[in-house]
Formats: sequence, C-alpha cells, structure tokens
Amino acid sequence: MNTATAPGPFRKSLPTSKADSEERGWRQIAGQFVVPTLLQRTRLDADTDVIAYENVFASGRCRLMLGDLIALADRGQAPTADVGDLIDAVCDDLITAATATGRTTALSACVPALYTDRIRPGGRLDTWYQDPSLTLTDRHTGQRTPLGALTGYTATVNDTAFLLDVPAAINAARSALHSDGQWTSAITQGDPTEPNIAASAAGACWLDFEHAGRNTLAGEIANLLWYLLALGGWLVPTHQPDVYRRTLPLHLPQAATPTIEHAELSTRHRRLDLHHKWPTGPGRHTALTRLLARLTTDLGTAAGLPTGRQLQALRPFLTLRILGVIPPHLLTPNDLFLLMAKLAQAQHLTDPTPFTHADPLSDLLTVEYP
Ligand SMILES: Nc1ncnc2c1ncn2[C@@H]1O[C@H](COP(=O)(O)OP(=O)(O)OP(=O)(O)O)[C@@H](O)[C@H]1O
Ligand SMILES: [Mg+2]
Repeated sequence: MNTATAPGPFRKSLPTSKADSEERGWRQIAGQFVVPTLLQRTRLDADTDVIAYENVFASGRCRLMLGDLIALADRGQAPTADVGDLIDAVCDDLITAATATGRTTALSACVPALYTDRIRPGGRLDTWYQDPSLTLTDRHTGQRTPLGALTGYTATVNDTAFLLDVPAAINAARSALHSDGQWTSAITQGDPTEPNIAASAAGACWLDFEHAGRNTLAGEIANLLWYLLALGGWLVPTHQPDVYRRTLPLHLPQAATPTIEHAELSTRHRRLDLHHKWPTGPGRHTALTRLLARLTTDLGTAAGLPTGRQLQALRPFLTLRILGVIPPHLLTPNDLFLLMAKLAQAQHLTDPTPFTHADPLSDLLTVEYP
C-alpha cells in the first residue's frame, strides 16, 4: 500500500503498444545509463499495462528533477553549480553513449516518434500549420492575418531582419530528415527534457523510456536545448499547466517568461517588427550556457556535428521541436509571434547568437516571487 511515509513504486499505466516501447527502451539503456529499477509489468485490462519502477525519490536515489532544480536555482534556493553539474552529467552520458553504441545510421534506423513521424506529409506539422484558421493578431489594431499569408514577410526581430516562411522551414526540415539521411546515432533515452531527468548522487538519473533506443545525437541535443530555452520555463507551464504539475513535484511558478516590447504587423509593407526580451533566471541561464559550451566542444564532436557549425546542424531537429510540441492554436497571439521569431532565427543560424540569446534576469527587473 502506498502511504505518505513509505510510498510504493512509481507506476506508469500505458496502452499495451506504448508499454512495449517503454519496456524495450528501458532494457536497451539500463546497462548504460543510471535508471530506476524496473520492478514489474502487469496487465490492467485488455488494452492497458502497468509498469512499476523503483520510485527514485522514495528510494533516495534522487533528490530533484532537473526542472525543479533549475527553478530553485532561479530563486536563489539551490546553487547554480548544481544545475551546471547536472547538465554536464547529461552531456557526459550522451558522449558515453556515443562512444559505446554510436555509429552513422540512416534516420530510418532511429526511434521515429518525435521527428520522423511528425514531419511526414500529412503528419502533425502539416495538420497544425496548414490550418487556414491559424492567424496572427496585431496587438494594436486587433487585425487577424492568416499565418499562411505571412509567407515572404520580412520579420525584423530585435533589429535583425529575417525572412518569415513557415512552409519553407517545414520543407527544409522534411528534406533534411528524409529516411535515408545519415546521422550519428546511439542508444539513448530519446527525450531529454527537464521532467525526464533527475539529479542523483551518481549524476543524471534518466526516467521515461517511451522513446529510448537508437536516437540521433543531434535530435537529443536539440530536444534539450529547446526545452531549456522555451518549453521548460515558458511554454509548458503556460500552455500545459497540468503536464507541468504532474511531472515536476515542486512545479514552482516560472522565474520569467519572454516578453514582447513592441510588435507591429504591416500587411501593406509585408513586415513584422518585433522587439522582445528573453529573461532567464540564474539557474536556467547556467543550464543554457553549459549546454551551449558542450555543444561547441566535446558533445558536438561526439554527435558528429561540424566544427563551428554545430547549431546550424541541429536546425531540422530544432524546427520540429519549435513547431511540433505545443499545438499553435493554443498559443496566445504574443506567444505565436515569439515562436515565429524563434523559427525565423533558427532558419538563419549563420549567426547563432540571436537564437540562443537569453537576458540574465539580474540585468533586467528584480522579480518578486510569490
Ligand atoms: N521511477 C520514478 N520514480 C519517481 N518519479 C518518477 C519515476 N518515473 C517518472 N517519475 C515522475 O513522473 C513523471 C511522469 O513520468 P514519465 O515521464 O515516465 O511519463 P510521462 O511524462 O507521462 O510520459 P511522456 O513524457 O511521454 O508524456 C516524471 O516527469 C517524473 O516526475
Ligand atoms: Mg516524461
């Protein structure tokens, strides 16, 4: 029986086919990564299985999820060094995986759910972004412009001009992620996000094995980078608050979210002008800085990314993460503007700075925490 003082195992109910992926994934990475012990798999009903794992918090193996650790460090309640150490441990694990099981493979040999399935014609990206009812709303005039009509607009984001072209971004990702495309892949957990990684005394403890198996290292890095930049501190808590509460035990209020200082859409001049800030607390800033430092050094090398162009090489995977996680019709007009700005920046990564730029909170206003 589960009680507050002696909680039982962590139980995950899944449709049988997903339970198959989860168990297969766990078996593939268990010898290589720190993971909870898999205790038992039982049939709940005709279509549902339950997998019981060691509860890593009850067993004392782990103290905090990555997302909670970042939020505590953002508030000055955990050392930023602990965040840096956990990101380093994640990067070290990916490099170890590359050494042990890394090889160049076709994308078709990799777990398809997060990338291949979403980019295929008629898949999630097409369904979401070819929807004619998807509009951007001008903040001043209230005028709604279909997203598709913005193709070819000049987007000036924080004084840098980009071309706005969602269909081209989707097409480019589709060409880059064709099934025969060759990537450095390894046996990894497959979804390295803030609610899937916990801090243990031994480094990173990996949870959630639905996508574990052979994955591209570029996809793994893009996933974590976009989570740190946008999903973790902003989009998931804002637009999927139930997921945020369910997956992060502390689920603290966000330290800061991106803010638009000026947005102007001119259909006459086919221009979007946007000024925004991307404030990040010290915990998140440390995580981002550390991951980017590893991306441009040993992690990028292990992932087979070209020296000096590591971020550009992530582009198709970043496009999938930017567009393919939160349904755009759920976003506020401001959030859709910001996402379009990030997408435009991601298509022009010859100068990576605008895409990864975050404003340290200490340089901006002081925030009062509730
Ligand atoms: N072994 C475990 N011990 C303690 N807590 C766990 C364990 N595994 C997962 N959790 C917690 O439960 C949350 C949800 O579990 P998990 O990530 O496996 O499923 P999920 O998030 O529902 O799947 P998906 O990420 O595909 O939506 C995790 O974010 C983590 O907070
Ligand atoms: Mg999860």
